Amino acid sequence: MRFTLRIWRQRSAGDRGRMVGYEVDDVSPEMSFLEMLDVLNERLVLAGDEPVAFDHDCREGICGMCGVVINGVAHGPEQTTTCQLHMRSFRDGDVIVVEPWRAGAFPVVKDLVVDRGAFDRIISAGGYISAPTGSAPDAHAIPVPKDDADAAFDAATCIGCGACVAACPNASAMLFTAAKITHLGLLPQGQPERDSRVVAMVDQMDAEGFGGCTNIGECTAVCPKGIGLETIARLNHDLLSAVRTGKA
Ligand code: SF4
Ligand code: FES
Repeated sequence: MRFTLRIWRQRSAGDRGRMVGYEVDDVSPEMSFLEMLDVLNERLVLAGDEPVAFDHDCREGICGMCGVVINGVAHGPEQTTTCQLHMRSFRDGDVIVVEPWRAGAFPVVKDLVVDRGAFDRIISAGGYISAPTGSAPDAHAIPVPKDDADAAFDAATCIGCGACVAACPNASAMLFTAAKITHLGLLPQGQPERDSRVVAMVDQMDAEGFGGCTNIGECTAVCPKGIGLETIARLNHDLLSAVRTGKA
């Protein structure tokens, strides 16, 4: 397959940045999107040019490191991570536009790499429990209703990739934050900090400059783990409860 790429190049955080065109051929339909970028980078290096910087680690859809906007859609045309997107999802000869996540709270570091430290600071603000964990408990030592366990596990699959922020017209981090609050707030071990957690994490989310949620739903449409809008409803419920009762 052969593609025309238009890729965002930006030398550093202070550089204005610009789109640069590249031709890449001999691409296998079975290559992942990142492998296609590897092919481009090998050719750039051999030609003495600067390779395109992009984030990646596991390349298995589990670490959350990868993520670019492809033809205007976070992670591209399939609802998966960029590392799990394959070139067979495109047509031979396509023009593909590749950009970094665009959000004020995710400043561009270089080319397609953005700083997602804001997510780490939201987690630090409240994404933990204080219950002593000790060694692994027996599976049924603490009964958890099956529906709660399933919903908590579904929320825990959030990999922190940031696609939800990139897709949202408000650059809101509500889906990410709500996934973490749901994951802990539905389990018995998460109850002691349930009120203080939601207030602290939402405060940090606001302090980082993420926008508010206006129920547009673009976040869940691109989320590679299918985190649903009901997690945001749960966040709002917990936040209202904490503020109304003055427990936080
Ligand atoms: S909610 Fe989905 S899109 Fe947002 S960070 Fe988590 S996995 Fe990524
Ligand atoms: S590189 Fe780990 S999720 Fe894509």
